[in-house]
Amino acid sequence: MAEGFELNSFLDELKSASRGASPTAEVRQILDRVFADPSAVASGMPAYEQDDKILFEDDAVSIWFCRFRPGDPVPPHDHQISVSIGVYEGVEKNSMYRADANGGIEVSSVHELGPGDVFSIGPTGIHSVICGSEAPSLAIHVYLGNLSEVERNLFDPRTGERMRFSDEDVERLKPYQQEIEARA
Ligand SMILES: [Fe+2]
Repeated sequence: MAEGFELNSFLDELKSASRGASPTAEVRQILDRVFADPSAVASGMPAYEQDDKILFEDDAVSIWFCRFRPGDPVPPHDHQISVSIGVYEGVEKNSMYRADANGGIEVSSVHELGPGDVFSIGPTGIHSVICGSEAPSLAIHVYLGNLSEVERNLFDPRTGERMRFSDEDVERLKPYQQEIEARA
């Protein structure tokens, strides 16, 4: 019989892994196991109104529900802490970037994460995210630190110019990211 998915025990398990000896590996193991049955996650998750919902956050771990709607990207950014992403509905398209020869950034790989996929990014990894399905993508993102308080970087997708991450600049840069995604 399937194990099922219960949000509070999942959160407790992640909290205790984040305080363990090798948090990155332990969190990844939990996500690999739990997201092997994405429909159990989908039936166990509440239907949130908001697109980003902090399920738990302290200095060791931030656990976020993330919904991406078609055509509404997040421009390139890093986190300064590691993150693992588990998708349970739709497709969350992650583009990874590296420095280019002109002081800018260029896409190094693209990962279309569907239900059951788990993807990890290190503290200095740079990604942009957009919905890759007709219906919104639904995922849980687990960051090993306090995402709301960490100082991290956002990049202008046209020039690679680096700035401190802020919601205002995310909104300002979104149209340029939309243009780039529309051409891809
Ligand atoms: Fe991110």
